[in-house]
Amino acid sequence: MKRSTAFEFSRVTEAAALAAFNWIGRGNKNAADDAAVKAMRALLNKMEIRGEIVIGEGEIDEAPMLYIGEKVGRSEPQDEDVAIAVDPIDGTRMTAMGQAGAIAVLAAGGKNTFLRAPDMYMEKLVVDSEAKGMIDLNLPLEQNIRRVASKKGKLLSQMTVAILAKPRHDEIIKKVQELGVRVIAIPDGDVAASVQCCLPDSEIDLVYGIGGAPEGVVTGAAVQALGGDIQGRLIPRNQVKGNTPENMLAAEKEIARCAEMQVPVNQVLKMEEIVKDDNVLFAATGITTGDLLKGVHRKGSMLFTETLLIRGRSHTIRRVESLHDVSRMDD
Ligand code: FBP
Repeated sequence: MKRSTAFEFSRVTEAAALAAFNWIGRGNKNAADDAAVKAMRALLNKMEIRGEIVIGEGEIDEAPMLYIGEKVGRSEPQDEDVAIAVDPIDGTRMTAMGQAGAIAVLAAGGKNTFLRAPDMYMEKLVVDSEAKGMIDLNLPLEQNIRRVASKKGKLLSQMTVAILAKPRHDEIIKKVQELGVRVIAIPDGDVAASVQCCLPDSEIDLVYGIGGAPEGVVTGAAVQALGGDIQGRLIPRNQVKGNTPENMLAAEKEIARCAEMQVPVNQVLKMEEIVKDDNVLFAATGITTGDLLKGVHRKGSMLFTETLLIRGRSHTIRRVESLHDVSRMDD
């Protein structure tokens, strides 16, 4: 991907975060998401690319915008083909409740870079470049933690694991703590935690949990770009949320969609199957302030944003701080 194109993507997540800003703490996660989606789409359509959304807001019949397969960009013959994975808000609930750590996220790469997966659950395990090659989702989490600790030359008491704080993880969190490992239980937003884990000098050694598959693919781009490692496994809804009739029906649809997309269910996917190579771009802008990024806030008459822009080819990590004049934002 052209270097100049890569930079343009930071404008897209900035726009999404600025749009979401108006909805922070207003208790309406759908309105926040809708505003971020619209802003992201408007900016993508101004770019000189022939883009296709490969991970988005869902299938065409359930998402009016940024649906899987939607074409975005100016799309002139001379423009570059770009596959785009978006998560306009990772942390819609956090945005609606005014909680820390919500971000607007996008990843881009060449055609066929990203796993094409439906919007379902994915079990994920992430480590940084130092522990690359040491993880295996087929092994129990405890064994993975031990392997990573020995590679890093750390005692278990010096290890930190971030896990989504969902009831389904209560048992595993307890077990990890019993090993003497520190657990950071994050209420939502496993993309930010995973990126944080792969940044230089991170305090997080490993991120584990069952979360969204779209988030898993977007995360995969950051992990590839930072030289870390990720494994994932698509899991049907009933296995995560219980065998209610609704969950069984949803699971049936997910399994059928996976068959159509030729992606395996309940099988470990390695990093290269999630994101093919490191010729990717990852952009994230803070919506509410968290450990990874500062959120949108007012500075006088301007709005401040902070964006993380990572280019996989060069492994360059940029933090872009911007001030936006709200009255001129359409320009
Ligand atoms: P949303 O912004 O789409 O709500 O995602 C937040 C999130 O916490 C993700 O980071 C995570 O992967 C997923 O939800 C977990 O799903 P669930 O909330 O169903 O347990």
